[in-house]
Amino acid sequence: MKKVDTIEALRMARATLAGPVGFVPTMGFLHAGHLSLVERAKAECASVVVSIFVNPTQFGPNEDLEAYPRDLPKDLAMLEAAGVDLVWLPTPEVIYPPGFQTWVEVEDVTQPLEGAKRPGHFRGVTTVVAKLFNAVEPDRAYFGQKDAQQVAVIRQMARDLNVPVEIVVGETVREPDGLAMSSRNNYLNGEEREAATLLIRALRAAKELYAQGERNADAIRERMRAVIAAEPLARLDYVSSAHPETLVELETIDAGALLSMAVFVGKTRLIDNLVIGTK
Ligand code: PAF
Repeated sequence: MKKVDTIEALRMARATLAGPVGFVPTMGFLHAGHLSLVERAKAECASVVVSIFVNPTQFGPNEDLEAYPRDLPKDLAMLEAAGVDLVWLPTPEVIYPPGFQTWVEVEDVTQPLEGAKRPGHFRGVTTVVAKLFNAVEPDRAYFGQKDAQQVAVIRQMARDLNVPVEIVVGETVREPDGLAMSSRNNYLNGEEREAATLLIRALRAAKELYAQGERNADAIRERMRAVIAAEPLARLDYVSSAHPETLVELETIDAGALLSMAVFVGKTRLIDNLVIGTK
């Protein structure tokens, strides 16, 4: 497994790879969710590139950039064992050199949900992902369904900017009790970790209501809110039942609707989602 940091070294190493090239962009502190994307990329592509970069521009001023968990030696060992060909470890100066002043902004689909609660977040995500795509030039790029709005935003960006990449979405990988894997789960203490199952419980309760015939989106959202309200360690940020591509809130729920939420468990903000009509 080759490791590079500069763009020049990345481009030289990329040029030696057999195609199609699969790319898994990450912020490190890898878990089974990331590895499932790497495995899928391995199965579908001749070569796999992974980037590890904790992108400062997608964190708000009061968010967890400094505290964001990092463990590079462990990440590299996991990627080596997974058979990754090339790892790109850019520094902030490589991505945002002095004088940097160009940003990529996607409009409507970034406005609700995460975009409304985390101003500037998606501007940071789309800018860094556009830069990563330009440098790596992957044939396929792999993202997790857990960040459903990020997927919709990146798809929109790739379409609008004619980026010749296929966006592939991997299912959310869950702990045995249903908690979606996330590097931020590391912040939870024992009590909070137990409470954190409320996200999947709320989503499953809403799905169950749908299975019983409920189609009113307000009623579905209310069911999710009720599960969250019953947990003293939790504070709701938002619940949503929206169109999976536009993220516009629905009045009536049908197969394909995206149920999603953000909840603070203690001080940790967790997100999760489920698409109606899937497992
Ligand atoms: O999902 C993530 O880990 C990040 O948002 C990404 C896509 C690597 C961009 O920094």
